[in-house]
Amino acid sequence: MKAFVVGATGGTGKWIVRELVGKNVPVVALVRNREKAQQTLPAGVEILVGDVLQPETLGAAIADCDVLICATGAAPGFDPTAPYRVDYEGTKNLVNLAKSKGINHFILVSSLCVSQVFHPLNLFWLILVWKNKLKIISAKVE
Ligand SMILES: NC(=O)c1ccc[n+]([C@@H]2O[C@H](COP(=O)([O-])OP(=O)(O)OC[C@H]3O[C@@H](n4cnc5c(N)ncnc54)[C@H](OP(=O)(O)O)[C@@H]3O)[C@@H](O)[C@H]2O)c1
Repeated sequence: MKAFVVGATGGTGKWIVRELVGKNVPVVALVRNREKAQQTLPAGVEILVGDVLQPETLGAAIADCDVLICATGAAPGFDPTAPYRVDYEGTKNLVNLAKSKGINHFILVSSLCVSQVFHPLNLFWLILVWKNKLKIISAKVE
């Protein structure tokens, strides 16, 4: 098995990568910033630079992987489109990528309470709404 981890430099992604490396699973880490990844990730991890919002940067990297693990998330901030773009459109790009490459295992790190519209986390530009919409689309894909 070889794993393609997206969002590998994030809090959750780093932990996922460490667990996989600890179990001797080869990892390809898709990151936005190579230097940050080199400082953050364990030795032996293959680092590839890409952005989920730019599908053309994703294709080659995933070629020989069997599982795609998505641990991306929009960073809290003042851009009201960030959760829509990163957590919804970006993840859809990854789903399409996995489908186009015949990768049948897609693990999405989502969130609790995605179906609760009146949840405080939705003050961050409706992030749970976008995650929930993605869940519905993923179910249709299956
Ligand atoms: N932390 C928790 O307790 C927790 C609990 C439940 C669910 N989750 C979910 O887990 C996911 C990750 O959360 P986290 O706390 O680990 O967040 P985080 O530390 O902010 O990490 C987010 C990761 O996403 C990457 N990213 C953002 N935009 C991207 C883009 N356009 N293209 C490629 N990568 C991009 C970031 O890259 P950079 O490093 O370059 O910024 C970073 O590696 C989220 O979906 C979150 O809802 C987290």
